[in-house]
Amino acid sequence: MASATTLVMVVAAVACLCAPAAAGDGNADATRQPPVVSGLSFDFYRKSCPKAKSVVRKFVRDAVRKDIGLAAGLLRLHFHDCFVQGCDASVLLDGSATGPGERQAPPNLTLRPSAFKAVNDIRDSLEKACGATVVSCSDILALAARDSVVASGGPEYKVPLGRRDSAEFASQQDVLSGLPPPTAAVPALLDALAKIKLDATDLVALSGGHTVGLAHCSSFEGRLFPRRDPAMNATFAGRLRRTCPAAGTDRRTPNDVRTPNVFDNMYYVNLVNREGLFTSDQDLFADAATKPIVEKFAADEKAFFDQFAVSMVKMGQISVLTGSQGQVRRNCSARNPGTVAAGDLPWSVLEVADSFVF
Ligand code: HEM
Repeated sequence: MASATTLVMVVAAVACLCAPAAAGDGNADATRQPPVVSGLSFDFYRKSCPKAKSVVRKFVRDAVRKDIGLAAGLLRLHFHDCFVQGCDASVLLDGSATGPGERQAPPNLTLRPSAFKAVNDIRDSLEKACGATVVSCSDILALAARDSVVASGGPEYKVPLGRRDSAEFASQQDVLSGLPPPTAAVPALLDALAKIKLDATDLVALSGGHTVGLAHCSSFEGRLFPRRDPAMNATFAGRLRRTCPAAGTDRRTPNDVRTPNVFDNMYYVNLVNREGLFTSDQDLFADAATKPIVEKFAADEKAFFDQFAVSMVKMGQISVLTGSQGQVRRNCSARNPGTVAAGDLPWSVLEVADSFVF
């Protein structure tokens, strides 16, 4: 077990290798930008809503100044949208007669209500600026996530736009299988990401989103009780136990123990010091497939920022709806009036349809 002195030395050694912060200094290396999916483009709203990007940027900047936690909330909301049925804003839909919405599924219960409200408020501002069904809720999520990263000190990057919104939400089971649990180790995480064409580098870079925000004790208490996970630093575990003294405590603690409200590379320095909160975090430093990437990002903030930008653009294009697919929702929480989703057909209609088949 490392002594406190050794730990301080590790932090100091890693910290002094860090490149200066690259916040707001433009896009990631253009040569490494992932391809833009057909149907999306950087200037999608050039004619229909030229102010779209600046409206979202200003809203997020002002709102995050008042509540820094909103940045984490908006970033996580985009991730939870994209990993389940693609980036189609389905996570925002209220439940209906067909069943509970994605928001009711266990991994989504801790999404911040303030983030859902912010998306609706942004949509209202965009309606005033450009009309009711011009900018999609899924594009608002992608822009708000990027602007949250920038507002908390992270990298600037360009967001491809033109996503359309789904009229249907995913099942509770799809949410559970799309979003890996915090107890997952690297092989399971890699499997989950491979299904949506993300690799080990994307996994490590995107997990860097845990440089901001909070987690409930329930998300990591299995690493404290009945006994400490040996992969967790003992001093760190002792501090966590002050917030979460017993299993079942309903409290929250920062994801990043060093700089909880700043988007920087300290998340990786934490992992090197065995101060990652979840198994899904700490195992990135234990598994040979991901350890060198963690070490690189811990030592070089610019390398992390560049890769984070690339991986966010990749994540933001998962199974997007474009062109005439889906719809641009008038209200981000409900599909447009008159839209019939497959699961909504009354059984009597389905029966009639069946009778045609036979
Ligand atoms: C790789 C698998 C991932 C797992 C297993 C995971 C798991 C979690 C869990 C359990 C929480 C805490 C929830 C709570 O207890 O309240 C959390 C918070 C958070 N996650 Fe992840 N996450 C993953 C990936 C990501 C990605 C890809 C991003 C963004 C790029 C992200 C961004 C966040 C943020 C910002 C928070 C804090 C939210 C807040 O404070 O409201 N996570 N994550």
